[in-house]
Amino acid sequence: MIFEQLNPHACRTYLIGDEKSREAVLVDPVLEHVGDYVKTLGQRRLTLTHVIDTHTHADHISGGAALKDEVSCQYVMHQKAPARCVTFHVTDGFECRLGNIPVKVMATPGHTKDSIALVFEDRILTGDVLFLDDAGAGRTDLPGGDPGEHWDSMQRMLGLPDHLIVYPAHEYRNRRPSSLKDQKLHNPNLHPRSRKAYIDYLEGLKLGPADWMKDVLKANYACARDPKAAWIPVDVPACEVKGTMAVGANDQLVAGMPVEEVKRELETRTRLFVLDVRDPHELKEELGHITGATNIPVTKLAHRLAELEPYRDREIITVCKSGGRAHTAAQILMQAGFPKVHVMTGGMTGWKQAGFPTGA
Ligand SMILES: [Fe+2]
Repeated sequence: MIFEQLNPHACRTYLIGDEKSREAVLVDPVLEHVGDYVKTLGQRRLTLTHVIDTHTHADHISGGAALKDEVSCQYVMHQKAPARCVTFHVTDGFECRLGNIPVKVMATPGHTKDSIALVFEDRILTGDVLFLDDAGAGRTDLPGGDPGEHWDSMQRMLGLPDHLIVYPAHEYRNRRPSSLKDQKLHNPNLHPRSRKAYIDYLEGLKLGPADWMKDVLKANYACARDPKAAWIPVDVPACEVKGTMAVGANDQLVAGMPVEEVKRELETRTRLFVLDVRDPHELKEELGHITGATNIPVTKLAHRLAELEPYRDREIITVCKSGGRAHTAAQILMQAGFPKVHVMTGGMTGWKQAGFPTGA
């Protein structure tokens, strides 16, 4: 089986081919790279039979329509996809073979109504319905998004075999694909929760504005073949919830505490609880850590909240390198009902710049 990710940026386009028949499909192609894809297919002596979009994209213009025109392949999407240029619609449970490779379609609404995952014997292409690790999943606040349907899709993911390797449609921070077993342990969207608690969790996220994404959706509904059909900012973490958390909005929710104040409070009070949410190795590196800090990486926090129960009523200060992960951690704690949560402004970078002592 030929399996490659073709793009140099966060949008992932997968080339999947059968070595013997030389038939290939492209999943989630990006319009601006269509020329490169055609060249790559030619160099590899592959015949593109199908192009598949896992959903109507909101962050880039699909190359599906242009590829269909250029190489006369089928353009495949879920039955609910509104784009008229789609030539072959699939529904949940649809099975087929790419050469000798079996693949099954799983409907996974929530991010959009027309989201699908492609399930192979050893891997799953999840589109935007599931990202890797703390990236969680695609936002559910765009047109067609539905947090309740997303919970239903997560339950279906939880029921799939652990060995499948997860390949999402976006990866903004160079996380490596890992097994569904890993995701069940570390992805906050797969954390066991009731449907209502999950909806509350998603609806409570304060995400950044996405008006431009609605224009991109419209361009894809209209099968745009012009890369300038909608304005798109360069490689922002547009689909990732974590990357779109509105800093301004969070600031109102999560109080910041300057490093000087944290130091003063630690010297004068004993009820301050410092929670360092970086990866363990970072605490031993150049920036060090605040002596006495408890370390739970932000990627594991949702699963390890029980360890913090004894400190629930303490004033908790979340700390990371510069503040981003600490913000996410503070939100997780606040959504779990911890009453007094602050973020150390500037993180350990600010602490070190201030010349404050660090543990080894
Ligand atoms: Fe998306």
